[in-house]
Parts: sequence; C-alpha cells; structure tokens
Amino acid sequence: MNLKDKITELVKKSAQKSGIVDTDRLVVSFSNVPNLCDYQTNFALLVAKQLGKKPIDVANAIVENLQSDENFEFSAVMPGFVNVKVKTPQLDEFANAVLKDKNLGVEQVKEPRLVFFDYGGANVAKELHVGHLRSPIVGEALKRVHIAMGDKTLADVHLGDFGLQMGLTILQLKEDGYLDAFFKKGADIALLPIENVTLDVLNDEYPKASKRKDVDKEFKALADEYTLHIQQHTEPFYTIYKKIKDLSVKEIKKNYDLLNTTFDFYLGESDAYPYIDETIKIFVDKHLARESEGALVVDVAQEGEHIPIPKKSPDEPQRYKNPMPPAIIKKYNGGDLYATTDIATILMRNRDFHPDEIIYVTDNRQSTHFKQVFRCCKLAKISPKEQKLTHVAFGTMNGKDGKPFKTRAGGVVRLKEVVGLLIDGAEKKLASNGIVGDRELARKIGVGAMKFGDLSNTVDKDYVFDIDKFLSFDGKTGPYIQYTIARINSILSKANFKDGVVKIESEEERKIVIALLKLISSYQVCYDSYSLNSLCLATFDLASAFSTFYNNHKILTESDAERKENMLALCKLVKASLEKALWTLGIDSVEKM
Ligand code: ARG
Repeated sequence: MNLKDKITELVKKSAQKSGIVDTDRLVVSFSNVPNLCDYQTNFALLVAKQLGKKPIDVANAIVENLQSDENFEFSAVMPGFVNVKVKTPQLDEFANAVLKDKNLGVEQVKEPRLVFFDYGGANVAKELHVGHLRSPIVGEALKRVHIAMGDKTLADVHLGDFGLQMGLTILQLKEDGYLDAFFKKGADIALLPIENVTLDVLNDEYPKASKRKDVDKEFKALADEYTLHIQQHTEPFYTIYKKIKDLSVKEIKKNYDLLNTTFDFYLGESDAYPYIDETIKIFVDKHLARESEGALVVDVAQEGEHIPIPKKSPDEPQRYKNPMPPAIIKKYNGGDLYATTDIATILMRNRDFHPDEIIYVTDNRQSTHFKQVFRCCKLAKISPKEQKLTHVAFGTMNGKDGKPFKTRAGGVVRLKEVVGLLIDGAEKKLASNGIVGDRELARKIGVGAMKFGDLSNTVDKDYVFDIDKFLSFDGKTGPYIQYTIARINSILSKANFKDGVVKIESEEERKIVIALLKLISSYQVCYDSYSLNSLCLATFDLASAFSTFYNNHKILTESDAERKENMLALCKLVKASLEKALWTLGIDSVEKM
C-alpha cells in the first residue's frame, strides 16, 4: 500500500538498469512543489559527479526506463530532479484500500515492541499546576502514536508520593489539630476516618508547611523525621499517609480525566522504595560508587566530556565542555533520593515487564537528571544493553509576555483553572453558534484546542499559551479539525450514506488523497522524532483540503447517484482519518458543534 516504497523500488530498478550500481543514497520524498508533482528524488544530483555525468542526463536516463509505468508519471527536470506524479487510478486504489483497512493505512511496526511510558508525575498532597500540563498532553499522545503503529504500551503516572512534601503535610496537619485522634493512645487508626481533612485543607496546609520549612529549622528537621517514619512504615504516620494519598489520588485522577489521559498504573516513588537498598548495593558491589563528602556518588561522565573550554582571561574560572556531574545515590542524611528512586524504578520495571524501551516525558530542566539515571543504569547493567531509555524533554508553556504562564498576581496557575479557562472560552464560542448548556462538549473543544496548540509545536520548544488563538474555529487549531468532522457527520447523515468507493474526478479530490498520504506517513515521523507537530500539521492539511473540496462541489444535491456515492465515500474516508488523528493526539471528536 505504501506508494513511496513502490516508487523507490521502481526508480532503484531503473537506475540499476541504466548502469548505476550503488543506489544506497536513493530517497524518495514528498514534493516541495505540489503543483508540479507529488513525489520527488534528488538522487541524480547526488550521484552525477561520481559518475562523471551531468545530473540532468542521469535523471533523464532514469526516467527513460519508466515511461510506460501504469501507476506513476515520471519526469526529469533541471537541474536533475526526478519528479513523480501518481496517476489517478493508483490514487483511487490507494484511497479504497485505506478505507477498508482497520488501521486506515497507518503502517504497522514490523516487530512490535513493549514500550513503557512514564509521564504525568503528579505529586501527592500538592495540587496539580500549569507545570504539570505538558507531560500528560505530550506523553499520552506519544503513547497513542505507538499504539496506532502496533506497539504494546504500558503507562505509569509515577506519582511523587514519598518525598518531604508528605512529611511536611502531616506535620502541619498535626500542628493544626486535624490528626489528634490518630495520635491518641490506643486509637484504632485503621478505622479512623480522615474526613475532616479535605482537598481544600490539603491545598492550604502543604503550601503553609512548605513556606515554614525555609525559615524554621526545627520544623524542617521534624518534617524530615516524619518523612522517614512514612518511608519506614511507622504508625500512625504510615496510615495517615495512605489516607491522604487516597484522597489526593482521586483528585489527581479527575484532573487527568479532564485531559483524556489514562494510565495503566498509578504507581509512585513509594513503590520503588523496597528496591532502594538493593539498588545501592549493586553500585557498591560493582565498585561503581564512591564516597564524596559523606554521600555516595556514581561518576557518569564519559570520555571527551570534560574537555576544558579555553579561558578568555586568566582570572576566569576553568569551565568544561558538557560536564556531567556525578549522580548522588545516597546522601549523608539518607533523605531525598530522586535519582536512586528512578534507578530503582527501572530495576522494578525490568523485573516485572522487561520493556524494550522506557520513555520519560518531563520538562527539560530534568535533562541532566535523566542522563545521569540512564548512565547509571547502563553502567550497573540494571538496564540491559539493548533496552532503549529515552527522555522526551519539553519546553515551557509561557504567557503572552514570553515568561512562564502565571496568574495575574504572579502566582502559580492551578491546572484546574487552566482547564476552566478553556471550557469557559469554548462555551462562549459555542454560544455564538447557538449551542448552550453543554459543558462536556465545551470541555472536549476547550481541552482539544489547548492540546492541538501545544502539540503543534516541536516538543522541545517553549510556546505561548494563547487561548484566543487555540480556540479559533479556523486556522491550524483543534476546533477547526473538530468542526470539519462535525460538518462531514452532517453531510453523511443527511445523505443517509452507508457504503461506497472513492473515485477521484477533480483536482480537489486528488489533493485530499495526497494529503491523506502525507497524514499517514506523519505517524512514522512522530514515532521517530518523539514529537507530534508533523501529525498536527498533516491533520490540518487534510481538513483544509477537504474544506476546499466542500466549497467547490455540491455533494448533497449531486444528481448523478454514482458520482454522489463516490464523493460521500471520500467524505467518510476523510472523517475516519481525521478522527483517528485526533484520537492519537488525545483529542475528542465531536458529533456536532
Ligand atoms: N514528580 C516529579 C515533579 O513533579 C516528576 C516526576 C517525573 N518522572 C520521573 N520518573 N522522575 O517534578
């Protein structure tokens, strides 16, 4: 079904027939001049010099052998390109094959792998804020790209559920009298409800404690102690912790639901805790760890990384190219083991699942952390050689001022507030279309708008949260794609369409099928680049090709029954392909809007 492979094969054979032995550098790609041709190759330009010929002569010789091909039209153009146009019957055949295919033409990986995803990263007892938005958005979409291409996936939210924030929260709650019952002698703590501690209480208590720890040394020391009690399952701390965690996780799930983000596991840092001692022992036994200022560290720098950068003046401190600091796997006070926890988590995941790849989606400030963790795992063979460890590092979501998105007062924006803004905005838009009172529809549109706006950028870039732009019903936006689907729904239901075949009769229909070819191939691009921008762009291009067709052709009033059926089949194909693309991006399709 893959036309690009078909063309590559034909050009290769023809090149060989014309005497070119080495065709390794032959690449066929989509054309940059879509009005002239659909595909193109610069192969002749690459090999001409070596052959001692003019590029155009090489291109002509290749094209010469392909004059009578029934599926493609080949032509040689200056300075030495081979242009390829797909003949219409071949496009029809392709479109109808896609229509029948359960994967809608999206090519499946040859050997499916098990890919484990780690994204979300919410922290128990702390409220999700705007900084937690991109991980579920990007992570969920990347996971779905893998699903769409036939890999097996598992996803874990990897809760921050064992750190100092838990000790701080419990200490503050205790001081404010919420936990008296738990600390009474002889209390049956397992049965005690923690009802007086609500989410609102947690949202007040943690920030309060967090501020206090910076100025009150005693308070901080006690919170450290509490944290250790939790980690060592000492009562009543551990039971209180579990109750708070349950409460908090329920809320976290609700937030992820709003974002169409689902996980196979709600595991957390605490689940890796039983593996921490073993992990440290592995490094010690393999002589990979050394003591440094009372801590245990692993040197992870690699050859060539500590090259000194020449000083511009003698009193400048010596700096090094790409220095990679050692990973700290144990601190002198035993606390805060972020790296060790991630290493132990890999140990655990490898025992339980043996994934072929583990993909982490976090912001780019964690890049060094993950490099260290990955290197540690490879050094200690906790991760086998053939296992791929990938950190997908995303940029910051900024406000219109180009600085990280904040509230008007300069505070941190809660994730729920952002979603609220999007839903309100979508509701207003819908109202102008005469649809009122459908909050769930507004959520689908509002959240879809933000996701499409986010994913349209390459993942590593910062981008601006511009709600008006995201929510626009035309342009490269989520609502525009949803609107196109809704419009097709209406056509198909009015026509009472069941089944039919595609038969291209116009240039507009031809452009749709070419856009579909590009959309299908963009899945692989996303898969390889760990970024969703090419899928967003290709989805928009297909929707826009459809709009052009729709504006220039009367479908419902077409009098030739067969022609009408052919056009409706094309509508159905576009709808299914757009829906699949939106699903992959983690965006809902809507029936009408
Ligand atoms: N909980 C962390 C945070 O809020 C993010 C966790 C990222 N994932 C990981 N495996 N370390 O920053």
